[in-house]
Amino acid sequence: MANPCTYKDLGLVNTTDMFRSAMLNGYAVPAYNFNNMEQLQAIVTACAETRSPVILQVSGSARKYIHPTFLRYMVMGAVELTREAGADIPIALHLDHGDSFELARSCIDSGFSSVMLDGSHHPFEDNVRLTRQVVEYAHSRDVSVEGELGVLAGIEDRVSSEVSHYTKPEEVEDFVQKTGVDSLAISIGTSHGAYKFRLKPGEQPPPLRFDILDQIEKRIPGFPIVLHGASSVMPEYVEIINRCGGRLEDASGIPEEQLRKAAASAVCKINIDSDGRLAMTAIVRKIFAESPAEFDPRKYLGPARDELVKMVKHKNEHVLGSAGRA
Ligand code: G3H
Ligand code: 13P
Ligand code: ZN
Repeated sequence: MANPCTYKDLGLVNTTDMFRSAMLNGYAVPAYNFNNMEQLQAIVTACAETRSPVILQVSGSARKYIHPTFLRYMVMGAVELTREAGADIPIALHLDHGDSFELARSCIDSGFSSVMLDGSHHPFEDNVRLTRQVVEYAHSRDVSVEGELGVLAGIEDRVSSEVSHYTKPEEVEDFVQKTGVDSLAISIGTSHGAYKFRLKPGEQPPPLRFDILDQIEKRIPGFPIVLHGASSVMPEYVEIINRCGGRLEDASGIPEEQLRKAAASAVCKINIDSDGRLAMTAIVRKIFAESPAEFDPRKYLGPARDELVKMVKHKNEHVLGSAGRA
């Protein structure tokens, strides 16, 4: 690995103050996944323009795709971009769905300010042990840790499940206390990817299990909760993709109204990856369909980046309520 560094060297913050404010003021901090320069530029530009705190999120495979050293300088560049724009917003860099102590440690040593250890697919005691090990290392360096209880359906980095298992409220207190995590991801009916529900035409998605969330909140009052799999699978993008040669049959996501309700509760962090992918893909497909002779990447990635800025602003302003909070 290249020279170790801390998140403070990169101008980042951990999630402590972000979550305290989100809890106090009834909004959620957005956690947007990214894999490339255009996505990162769009996310920080939109968050700077809406004065929103932001968690920049990469999975283990996204980090590998970018390259760990390259990622560090991209993130430094992103922080500088916001400062130059006169927006000193809090920015965290977070490992999404970390699956081992070694990966979490490597991220912490190369400038991440927050890591997730996703041991949700392990038996409870193994999950506790793995998560605790990461917490000890992370906290000695002032880095935040997210744990997970309950399993979301869908494919995640090396962690996949056909079916979801809701979080058991009776386990959360014990888990939080034994591990010392700073936030807890739960399963209340969301799932990863663009196919969250199998709906018949005209059918509405089933509501999230706010009853389970209520029970969790009662057991760990004031503790930051995280919602994964929270893309709305925005129909306007699915429509463009399908009209312009793509094939996303029966794609569906979480209605915005339900996300607004979650953001106003103890849910302090909302994870969005698929909607960003869809926004960029829709514009790239549209441009290729309308201008088949185009082959300058700036001519399709540029407009795709502009669309992602629009999408992120919309989420911050009208769904998560994080706009104006930085
Ligand atoms: O929840 C996982 C994220 O959507 C990241 O997905 O492993 O394809 O980067 P990825
Ligand atoms: P979506 O697939 O709904 O965007 O979820 C992303 C996520 O949970 C990343 O951890
Ligand atoms: Zn996730």
